[in-house]
Amino acid sequence: MTRLQEQADLYLMQTGRRLPVTFVRGRGCLAYDESGREYLDLVAGIAVNLLGHSHPDVVATLTRQSAELIHTSNLYFTQPQVELAKRLVELSFPSRVFFCNSGAEANEAAIKIARKWGAKNRDGAFEIITTTGSFHGRTLAAVTAGGQHKYSDPFQPLPPGFKHVAYNDAAAIEEATTDKTVAVMLEPVMGEIGVVPAAPGYLKRVREWCDRQNLLLILDEVQTGLGRTGRWFGHQHAGIAPDVMTLAKGLGGGVPIGACLANPRADVFEPGDHGSTFGGNPLACSTASTVLEVIERDGLVGHSAEMGVLLDAAVQDLGAKETRGLGLMRAFEFEEAKAKPFQNACLEMGLVVNAVDDHSVRLVPPLIIDARQIDHAHDVMRQVAG
Ligand SMILES: Cc1ncc(COP(=O)(O)O)c(C=O)c1O
Repeated sequence: MTRLQEQADLYLMQTGRRLPVTFVRGRGCLAYDESGREYLDLVAGIAVNLLGHSHPDVVATLTRQSAELIHTSNLYFTQPQVELAKRLVELSFPSRVFFCNSGAEANEAAIKIARKWGAKNRDGAFEIITTTGSFHGRTLAAVTAGGQHKYSDPFQPLPPGFKHVAYNDAAAIEEATTDKTVAVMLEPVMGEIGVVPAAPGYLKRVREWCDRQNLLLILDEVQTGLGRTGRWFGHQHAGIAPDVMTLAKGLGGGVPIGACLANPRADVFEPGDHGSTFGGNPLACSTASTVLEVIERDGLVGHSAEMGVLLDAAVQDLGAKETRGLGLMRAFEFEEAKAKPFQNACLEMGLVVNAVDDHSVRLVPPLIIDARQIDHAHDVMRQVAG
């Protein structure tokens, strides 16, 4: 253990286990530890660094904006916030935006929108149907919405109003709907559990059900949004639009920012209903606008789709029993419990991958990854897989 790692044990709450590496800098898809060792990073800060590490345009915007104006609160207008909202709406669907600082907070806003909408439009209905295995963040409501007991059980009693059904089972949503139901909340591809894409027709059928039953459809695109799946947003693969969509992760190029978009039907917040001190500050918003500009300018959504095909091919001969994914959001699952040893051996060989549990490995590289880097990752993973 290095001295830094010892001090981390002493001074940081032990909320998760860290791998034995200390990163000190990064550039593009590469990260470097304190000895100068180079790593190819297929995790990208857990699907955050869409443009890789320290992209020059992101650095330039951070430098310029931090010298101009970093934070004002939402008591006042700032141009970067309005510009970013406009761009997000243009890229997605007619809506308005609330800015916050993380995915959990964006989902918290979505849940509050659903509660208020139900009080106004569905006779006080408040229950949200979500799916087992889903992940929506770590606030109390988000962890309850998420369908993984290991994250919520230690924090009982949990807030009421969430019902879990199996993912990719539209009939289960239909059966679970009652007078109390106000919304369905889904990930277009479940990420944290190990990359489980929506089956063909699933999102469309749920959208139709929500329309027929007068329910809101909330899509958590915190991980799937902004080109990750080879489209700007995951729901575009299904040819539908949600009423409410949440974003975070990749939006700020590594600077914390979250967003909750609501279409006119769901746009129920009024002054005083919700807020965030830091949410949508000029630094985060101008950086996020730069991220969107670069994704567009460099054609990274199409590139993500193309590289996704290569990355998919690169995980086919690793002895996995199943491979899953969409665009640059990929996972493979071993029959045996060897995902963690596999992850650790890759790290020792300078390749950063993410074991989401004992069996599954997730790859969510920067959208700027190229074919040569995927080839290299393939070589390393093949050696490790033996
Ligand atoms: C789909 C999804 N929603 C929400 C979150 C929570 O985001 P944050 O950690 O920024 O609160 C995550 C994080 O992994 C996620 O993958």
